[in-house]
Amino acid sequence: MRLRKKHWATPELKENEYIYFDPVDKKGKWHETFGNENPIYLELGAGRGSFSLKKAEENPNINYLPLEIETNVFVYAGRLYKEKGLKNILGIRGAAEKLFEFFEEDEVDRIYINFCNPWPKPRQHKRRLSHPRLLNLYKVILKNGGEIELKTDDRPFFEDTVDYFKEEGFEILNIDYDLGLKEGDTITEYESKWRSMEVPICYIRVKLNK
Ligand SMILES: C[S@@+](CC[C@H](N)C(=O)[O-])C[C@H]1O[C@@H](n2cnc3c(N)ncnc32)[C@H](O)[C@@H]1O
Repeated sequence: MRLRKKHWATPELKENEYIYFDPVDKKGKWHETFGNENPIYLELGAGRGSFSLKKAEENPNINYLPLEIETNVFVYAGRLYKEKGLKNILGIRGAAEKLFEFFEEDEVDRIYINFCNPWPKPRQHKRRLSHPRLLNLYKVILKNGGEIELKTDDRPFFEDTVDYFKEEGFEILNIDYDLGLKEGDTITEYESKWRSMEVPICYIRVKLNK
């Protein structure tokens, strides 16, 4: 199902001081922008943006950058960020494929990928946010020792993703094919939906050794 375009979403987001559109001018300047040297955690495909917001509330000494391509959904993230007025979260409206235009080498400490589209057909695999084509971008912008955390409800996609991480030389720190939920864990909108249907959640955390 295609979402109806919200014609007001882009103008509203452009007015929002918490959201940057394709921020090529911020490349290498994110610490300056946040006004501190705290670690930078990037979330790809952030949707309505509540995951990074909760993390930002819990971890004031980490800077969060949720990134999302779709203004139709990200407009709600923008509202939340403005309402809360935190100093350690800024949204990026842009495509993960353009990360190299937005970040300098070694600028990012951690990347979250939550419930991204599994693109099941072989000819679509290269669009996956965990595809080696993108892992090679993440390798540049992530610091030595930087980590990626990925969660999904899609087992075949997850199995391919584990292979992609191995092929690209990431060190696997944790892997779980039915992730339990502890009190206080931060979950996304999609995770909440899948958990309510008792779909097992797959999780992997990997480290980059440069
Ligand atoms: C299935 S939703 C998951 C949203 C959220 N992470 C969650 O778990 O609730 C995937 C999101 O990724 C976004 N997305 C897909 N491809 C993207 C890309 N190449 N760059 C940035 N965002 C992307 C989509 O617009 C969508 O909002």
